[in-house]
Amino acid sequence: PVAADGSEPVRDATVIAHRGASAYAPENTLPAVDLGIDMGAPLVEIDIQLSADREIVVLHDTTLGRTTDVEENLLAVDPRQLYPHVAFFHSAELAELDAGCWGRFADSQYCGTHVPTLAETLDLFTEHPEVGLLIEVKSPAEHPGIEPLLVAELQARVAAGETNPHVVQSFDWQSMQRFDVLQQDAGLDYPVGLLGTVNEADFGTYAWAEQVNPNHGSLTTEYVAAAYAAGFSVNPYTVNDACRMVALIDDIGVDGVITDRPDLMQRVLAPD
Ligand code: G3P
Ligand code: CA
Repeated sequence: PVAADGSEPVRDATVIAHRGASAYAPENTLPAVDLGIDMGAPLVEIDIQLSADREIVVLHDTTLGRTTDVEENLLAVDPRQLYPHVAFFHSAELAELDAGCWGRFADSQYCGTHVPTLAETLDLFTEHPEVGLLIEVKSPAEHPGIEPLLVAELQARVAAGETNPHVVQSFDWQSMQRFDVLQQDAGLDYPVGLLGTVNEADFGTYAWAEQVNPNHGSLTTEYVAAAYAAGFSVNPYTVNDACRMVALIDDIGVDGVITDRPDLMQRVLAPD
C-alpha cells in the first residue's frame, strides 16, 4: 500500500534467509544461520538429511563434494571417494569436515566451520525465541525414517520450553504428510510447507498444509490469490534481486520471500 501522504510504499513480507544468509557465509553452516538471525530474518531456511548413525545434519546436496573438503580427507582407497553421500558418513566424521572453505569462501574467516547437526543449529535459537527455522527435509526418500526423528527432536525442544516459530517444508509432499500426522500424534502443530507448485485443482487435497512455496519464476497474482483463498501462505524461492522482490511483494502479493540476501530484502521492505 502507498501511505496517505504519498510517501514510499510500506511493504510487509516475511524475510526468509536461504541456507542462512548464504550470500555472505557458507550455506547451511552455523555462521550462515547466525548471520541470518543477525540480519533480522524472522525465519532462517536450512536443509536437513541423515548421517550414517541417523543424526539429523544440515546439508543441501546429498553428496559432500561441493561444500566440504571430503575429497582431501578420505584415503584414495576409500570407496566413498567415488560417491560421498552424506548417509555414508558418521556424524563424528561430518563434524571433522570443513564446510566453510570452498568457492568464494576459500581462505575466509569461515574456514574450519563444520557440517552442523540440527541440534547444534537449534541451539543458536534458544536466545532468539522470536526467530524460527524453515526446516527443509531434503530428499527424504534417501533418508527413510527422518520424519519421526525430526518430530522427536522438535518435541524434546518444546518439552525444554522452546517456543520458536519453526516451519517444516519439503519438495516431497508425502514426507510432509507423514511428518504432519506424526507431529500431531506428538502434540505438535508446526506449520507445514509444500515446495514446488501445487495445482489449484489440488488445493483441497493438501488442506493439511499451511504453505505453498514455489519457485518465484512461475508465480502469478491469480495463483497467489487462489492459494490465499484456499488457506495457504505463499513464500517463493530464491530471490536475490531487489526489483524482483518488489514485484513479488507489491504486484503478485506473496507472503514471504526466501533469499540469500536478507539484508537486501530488509532494505526493500523499509527503504531509507
Ligand atoms: O526453501 C526453498 C529452497 O531452498 C528450495 O531449493 O535447492 O535451495 O533447497 P533448494
Ligand atoms: Ca532448501
